[in-house]
Amino acid sequence: TISCFLGCSAEFYVIDDRIGLGREFDGIGGLSGGGATSRLLVNYEEPYRSHILDFLFKPNFGASLHILKVEIGGDAQTTDGTEPSHMHSKDEGNFFRGYEWWLMKEAKKRNPNIKLIGLPWAFPGWVGEGTQWPYFFPNVTADYVVTWIYGAKQHHNLEIDYIGIWNEKKYDPVYIKVKKKKLDLYSVHYPGTKTVKEALLTEKKLWSSEDYSTFDDDIGAGCWARILNQNYVNGRMTSTISWNLIASYYENLSFGGDGLMTADEPWSGHYVVESPIWMTAHTTQFTQPGWFYLQTVGNLTHGGSYVALTDRKGNLTVVIQTMTHNHSQCIRPPLPHFDVSPQIATFQLKGSFAHLTDLQVWYSKLDFETKKDTLFQNLPVSTQVYNGSFTLKLDVDEVYTITTVNTGQKGTYPESPNSRPFPKNYSDDFTIDNPPFSEAPYFADQTGVFEYFRNSTDNGSHAFTLRQVVTERPVTWARDADQTISIIGDYSWTDLNVSCDVLIETPVTGGVFLAARIDQGGESVREAKGVFYWIYANGTYKVTNDIGGQRVLAEGLSGTREGVWYTLTLRIKGYFATGMLNGYPLWKNAVVLEPKNGWTALGTLSFEYAQFDNFEVNAE
Ligand code: GAL
Repeated sequence: TISCFLGCSAEFYVIDDRIGLGREFDGIGGLSGGGATSRLLVNYEEPYRSHILDFLFKPNFGASLHILKVEIGGDAQTTDGTEPSHMHSKDEGNFFRGYEWWLMKEAKKRNPNIKLIGLPWAFPGWVGEGTQWPYFFPNVTADYVVTWIYGAKQHHNLEIDYIGIWNEKKYDPVYIKVKKKKLDLYSVHYPGTKTVKEALLTEKKLWSSEDYSTFDDDIGAGCWARILNQNYVNGRMTSTISWNLIASYYENLSFGGDGLMTADEPWSGHYVVESPIWMTAHTTQFTQPGWFYLQTVGNLTHGGSYVALTDRKGNLTVVIQTMTHNHSQCIRPPLPHFDVSPQIATFQLKGSFAHLTDLQVWYSKLDFETKKDTLFQNLPVSTQVYNGSFTLKLDVDEVYTITTVNTGQKGTYPESPNSRPFPKNYSDDFTIDNPPFSEAPYFADQTGVFEYFRNSTDNGSHAFTLRQVVTERPVTWARDADQTISIIGDYSWTDLNVSCDVLIETPVTGGVFLAARIDQGGESVREAKGVFYWIYANGTYKVTNDIGGQRVLAEGLSGTREGVWYTLTLRIKGYFATGMLNGYPLWKNAVVLEPKNGWTALGTLSFEYAQFDNFEVNAE
């Protein structure tokens, strides 16, 4: 219902291609990575994992994305974790690490036309040859990226459509030339739908190659619906890519829940198809890369905006959004005030579209009062086109798609299982012959990279282990810790018992830890506090309150050294922590005032090899 129904008169808008078309549309995409944002997705059991992938990529089903952009893993922290590089060192290569290859293949399986983009955030240390900078040796960096592109083709039959330079850091003209590419598009991040005049004048393609990063509730949906429309209306940007594709990382890491939907409970199978998925569908299901915007796009008189696109073969798709200011704020930049009110809009179809009579109508309303949204509904009556025009009563916070395309579909699957916390009793002996992924389930690396490892020198009980493999500080994007760390479990855990077998590989200076109540990771991993139980190759142990080892709670002799397996056990109850070595008490009742809760974790003293086995946690 429209309050102004009788009081307001219709405004007229023309949809016309006789004056020529606008820019070519390049598609709507999602970004996996930057970093580790799909980490937990891979551990979902079937059929849930396939269902989720269908909601993201399957044409005429859900978000039906046109573009998948992935991080080229660089062994470093890039927001919600580290992603492994295809070359940990100069003379090795492995194209089966991590999950981005798998994700690209799953996307292609569903939509063979999906465009793929790769972009590095960070690089392994050797790429900078110790300089911590990727441009001193542009050939090395270019070879490294090109190896990734060839690897995609050779090992996975994936063609990469676009390659970026370095996420949100400097570019270097020499490096770009070495890559033997000319810059064929300009892209910005979080443009707030605006483009500078100079960029428009270049007549190059303009993209918002990273945008959104907003929690995936209805405000997130409002943000996304508005920018998908206005990035073209205001900024002439012909592609918008969501950071991130899917929030599949522990929610208490940086930017929790900032995806098109959330799937962060592989242990239960629970996931929710959030409203941003359906806002995406309003554009993606009725357009394709290669379509063209019309020149007749714009803002509506009483707030909101509309775009019109055509395949130049007679198809027309008009997307209209009326998101209000407070219901469509994105994480950044600040959104200047504007008003939106109910309005009647008449669209007059001219040129190739003058003869159209039957148009499909897809409708969404984000209802912030009743909380009962209408999401991506195919209205039963097609819009009546009288004398070449149709009229819509537009209320606030709505999206309409009016289109000749009749393949739209709101995909469904049976509800996913109920939400459940991470299991309180969990163990992993890392014994698996041909692991489908290089990382063990639920372990989320925050500095360094932890991989399944076949320990050929040990045919006994430690033949299969988890190994930390980054041995040099990467060319970082965020502030990685000086130690390595992988977290696992439930952020709300307080009292628990955790144990793990550990093997220090580095003589004299080496060290490893087992920890609990870890209070932060992601971009603030350097500041992580918790209870860290360390043993060192020099025969000593420590208990510290922080990853950096500044706040010492206990220390002494342990007799530990490299090359020998030890079992560490850490028990925390209330304000007290106790540690055992090989089942014998080593230290007792260390006082822990804070943190009160957090994940468990394991890791190393520096960028050094070390192995872990028989991890087990029992939380209360
Ligand atoms: C971007 C960055 C992403 C992620 C995002 C969070 O600037 O490229 O990796 O950190 O911010 O909003």
